[in-house]
Amino acid sequence: MEEIRTQVAIVGAGPAGLLLGQLLSREGIDTVVLEQRSREYVERRVRAGVIEFGIANLIEEAGAGERMRREGLVHHGVEFRFDRQSHRIPLSELADGRSITVYGQQEVVKDLVALRVKSGAPLLFDSDVTSLGDLTDNRAFVDATGPAGPVRVWCDFVAGCDGSFGASHRALPSDVVRRHERTYPFSWLGILAEAPPATEELIYGRHERGFVLYSMRSPTVSRLYLGVSPHDSLDQWPDERIWEEIGLRLATDEQPEVVRGPILDRGITAMRSIVIEPMRHGRLFLAGDAAHIVPPTGAKGMNLALADVRVLFAAMRAHFLGEGDALLDAYSATCLERVWRAEEFSNYMTQMLHPVVGDGFENGVQLARLRQAARTREASTVLARNYVDLNSL
Ligand code: FAD
Ligand code: DHB
Repeated sequence: MEEIRTQVAIVGAGPAGLLLGQLLSREGIDTVVLEQRSREYVERRVRAGVIEFGIANLIEEAGAGERMRREGLVHHGVEFRFDRQSHRIPLSELADGRSITVYGQQEVVKDLVALRVKSGAPLLFDSDVTSLGDLTDNRAFVDATGPAGPVRVWCDFVAGCDGSFGASHRALPSDVVRRHERTYPFSWLGILAEAPPATEELIYGRHERGFVLYSMRSPTVSRLYLGVSPHDSLDQWPDERIWEEIGLRLATDEQPEVVRGPILDRGITAMRSIVIEPMRHGRLFLAGDAAHIVPPTGAKGMNLALADVRVLFAAMRAHFLGEGDALLDAYSATCLERVWRAEEFSNYMTQMLHPVVGDGFENGVQLARLRQAARTREASTVLARNYVDLNSL
């Protein structure tokens, strides 16, 4: 078995693992990133697209924001559509001038992978982490099966950034860990289409037929989502049905047509909330989806993952600079406060925008909540500030 020694073993090359690696490398702290999949796979995986104000700044501070600033779309507002009418929330006006950046998650990943490859720091693709060990001893290890055989990475700390299906969160002993979970009775069907966005800003739509979200990636590529049954599969949704349903759910009296185009990517995602407490066990620190999942309605998944990394980086930096372990000891509690706020916001957005067939009471409450969010300055200010920069409230 090949053995490697490093200061921080990072499991997973998603946005969380890669950004942590980038920040630590810049401080001269050694890291090894282990990723189960290939470089092509992680760079092509289409997921989130909305970057909060403070998180865009973090990406820039890490030296990874050059292309995001050039190609990302800066938005100052968002639209809610219901009762066949549009209601604009002026995000920047309500949130002290802050804005969001629309830039695909896989573009963030591509930028971070390119920086790491250029720096020569180890990034081991096709390396499946199978177990973590000695987490409460003097040094820990991570075992992986790599393309050339088994590898053991010895380290001071393990950063578990391998998402909800990864190995890291399973290494928390069952008598220590608490797992809180909620599954929602809908999924999102997401498509990426070669079609110019019909509007300049994102549209969150609530229609009696279900949820719809109009987003984009560039002036020629749209990203759209439909709320569907959790039992639906992709073969039940041929292109024609997808476009027709989007058109029906987005229609207003003023703007009934949606621009169609070839579908480049499609997928169905279940909607869940998960929180794992604590986010630390000995030398293992969980960050991102490995520790928590939010339903995507608030666009918080990637932002929350990168916000954990900001806290973890500062704590590890202090440790390696000899400034003590107070930040490491506070890591889990510091992150969980924000995680629960993001869970609350994502739950609020989800349960305002997804009608439940046959439940007149639930639908009445949802519409009342939505009208309040769209029409009262107090409710739209809270929504705007949470959406643009969760840390600002
Ligand atoms: P991930 O991006 O999941 O990265 C984890 C990495 O670890 C992956 O590269 C994985 O291959 C690797 N890995 C897993 N197991 C192992 C192992 N054993 N060994 C080594 N490596 C391993 N959020 C939104 O806000 N909006 C959206 O529209 C949206 N859509 C989504 C669609 C899907 C299908 C999914 C799964 C998530 C979506 N999210 C969305 C959530 C958002 O993408 C995540 O919150 C974000 O990816 C979290 O980043 P992360 O780095 O923590 O985890
Ligand atoms: C996108 C995804 C989201 O979950 C969301 O709330 C808004 C936009 C997107 O992929 O563009």
